[in-house]
Amino acid sequence: MSDSDKKLQYPPLLDATASQRFALKAQTGTMRFDGGAATNTMGYSQDYLGPTVRLLTGSDTQAEVQNALRTPVSAHWHGLLVPGTHDGGPHQAIAPGQTWQPVLSLDQPPATAWYHSHVHGATAEQVMFGLAGVLHVTDGADDDRGLPSDYGIDDLTLVLQDRKFNWRGRINYDAGMQQSMDGFIGDTMVVNGQIGATAAVPQGVVRCRLVNGSNARIYRLSLSDNRPMHLIATDGGFLDRPLTLQGLTLAPGERGEVLIDFSDGKAVTLLSDNIVNSAMGAIMGGSGSGGQFTVLPFAVDTSVPVRIDTLPQRLDGELPDLAVASAPVRRFSLDMSMGMGMMMSRSDRQFSINDAAFDQSRLNFAVALGSLERWVVQGDLMMHPFHIHGVRFQVLSENGKPPQPQNRGWKDTVLVAGQVELALQFEKPAPSTAPYMYHCHILEHEDGGMMGQFSVG
Ligand code: C2O
Ligand code: CU
Ligand code: CU
Repeated sequence: MSDSDKKLQYPPLLDATASQRFALKAQTGTMRFDGGAATNTMGYSQDYLGPTVRLLTGSDTQAEVQNALRTPVSAHWHGLLVPGTHDGGPHQAIAPGQTWQPVLSLDQPPATAWYHSHVHGATAEQVMFGLAGVLHVTDGADDDRGLPSDYGIDDLTLVLQDRKFNWRGRINYDAGMQQSMDGFIGDTMVVNGQIGATAAVPQGVVRCRLVNGSNARIYRLSLSDNRPMHLIATDGGFLDRPLTLQGLTLAPGERGEVLIDFSDGKAVTLLSDNIVNSAMGAIMGGSGSGGQFTVLPFAVDTSVPVRIDTLPQRLDGELPDLAVASAPVRRFSLDMSMGMGMMMSRSDRQFSINDAAFDQSRLNFAVALGSLERWVVQGDLMMHPFHIHGVRFQVLSENGKPPQPQNRGWKDTVLVAGQVELALQFEKPAPSTAPYMYHCHILEHEDGGMMGQFSVG
């Protein structure tokens, strides 16, 4: 790596596995993304994004989130299976100057999760300006599994975001027509809040925890020399064994942990297809993919000691058979037609699920604690990443066929391109005063009303 290459930095690690407590402060910041002028940002305890919080499962962790901003924010633990009262969704908005102190009692398998603000109507903007961070749920046994676990050395946390900057270097987020219909698509790749950086890696096996923290962009990731990626974990945790892939699709809200083998010492670049996901495009008949772009170059640094040089054979993420054949079915249709009406009439943004836009004062349905259900989710005009709070689910089918290999692990977010069928088990309670959300994770769609809420009890 030449000296002129910027070396990728990782968010500071806030390891709460021993102390079992951590604190975050939502605050304003300033950043020079491209060496240009400073732009106003927001972050948790720093200028942009937040620290990576490492949490021990099987135990309780005292969290503390302080709001030092002038607007309400929240910290939703996307991927943590905690009760609705502790979930950090729109019902747990933190008023300016206030502090929220939930105890996170975790009894879920290890996973890469994340946190972000989730105030209804403000989520897209707050995440755009930086209110997001990563969570590692760990059981401390990654060394026994033969997995890389050295933070920022061979265990890399990578937050993928696309942004636009104006000529002064400021984040350019204006809710134009196309943006509010299709969601924000940037022209500049930002990884961990950095542009144009290169990740230094040891000459061995490296674990990348990929988090799609973009508002709307879908990545189809691959490596420039076509070497495989070995998927070891999806949203909800490990697979039963590594799955060798040429490409990994990650929609907003989704995570994937992959192992990449750098033992040949060669530099390689993580690329993405430029996926076009547009309602107007669909209507005009012109969707699809347009070329590739660089997400992150990797360069091998032989001075870094190699800890892991072989791929593990097995992980312990067997999927139980949820046996939902006779479980009740719920149907969801993610609907943009009101949004299209908005385009014609220029009235309020309106997106909906089953013809109802989100109303925070109205519960959409109630689920029994411990029950199994099958959800059939159908999308309209675009591909929509569908996310459900408070549960992990299995994908039973995609458009009537078995799920694609990358969707065969535990998920909490799935890209709906047509229709998916999900198997869910509700294991945590959510009272009607603190219900769980289900929504499209294109944040402009979510803010526009493509969201609902349900209680579990
Ligand atoms: Cu990542 Cu309801 O959110
Ligand atoms: Cu969530
Ligand atoms: Cu959507």
